[in-house]
Amino acid sequence: MDLAEALCSNPSVREFTDEPVSDEEVAALLEVARFAPSGGNRQPWRVAVIKEPSLRRALADLCGPVWSEYLAEGITGATPFSVVGPPPEIEPLGPQPNPLLDAIESVPVVLVVAADLGQIAMMDKDLARVPLTGGASVYPFVHSILLAARDRNLGGVMTTFLARAEPAAAPLLRLPDTWALASMVFLGHPVRRATKLTRRPVSDFAVIDRFDGVSFG
Ligand SMILES: Cc1cc2nc3c(=O)[nH]c(=O)nc-3n(C[C@H](O)[C@H](O)[C@H](O)COP(=O)(O)O)c2cc1C
Repeated sequence: MDLAEALCSNPSVREFTDEPVSDEEVAALLEVARFAPSGGNRQPWRVAVIKEPSLRRALADLCGPVWSEYLAEGITGATPFSVVGPPPEIEPLGPQPNPLLDAIESVPVVLVVAADLGQIAMMDKDLARVPLTGGASVYPFVHSILLAARDRNLGGVMTTFLARAEPAAAPLLRLPDTWALASMVFLGHPVRRATKLTRRPVSDFAVIDRFDGVSFG
């Protein structure tokens, strides 16, 4: 597949057929993704292939309340878990359906991607805001997994809800103290694949010279 076409046609897939994905296929995806860029080429990503059904259930159960909270904040019109401004007043929603979490035992592939923080140069760590740059040494790797999956007619989604439950998830995963949870990735054969992605046009987010400048594109 043409690279530009692949980049423009890789929607999130959250529903999978019963067709299994072999360990060899998962290994092949990681084999491609390992060529992702990272700061200083330190490759701080670590991957756990989660097979044990009870561990999958435990991780999903930790994500459930995060999902409900995310929806409750979103209903207010706020960006959920925004670091800008005060948190919104929310009405707790209670448990909410989620196709990935509800059937996590039957998702063909569940990966947890962690980052070894000791191997990340966090360029913005001393600024008076939350650091952003560190994730850039891990998320290109995750995206490469999804693109490699697309190349094999698999589909999937990068999620981050487990990161909010990191303190509880860490002992379950035996996550070393200086590592952080970056993503839980779900993969499989798509039940269906969206053909058209909804994204803002370039003129909406690109400008010439300065961020209050005229739009580019
Ligand atoms: C950093 C990041 C975090 C995400 N976290 C979640 C998540 O926790 N749960 C989920 O279902 N999808 C998650 N997604 C998937 C997004 O919802 C998805 O990329 C977006 O809605 C666009 O969907 P589309 O590519 O199908 O158009 C995440 C995506 C990214 C890039």
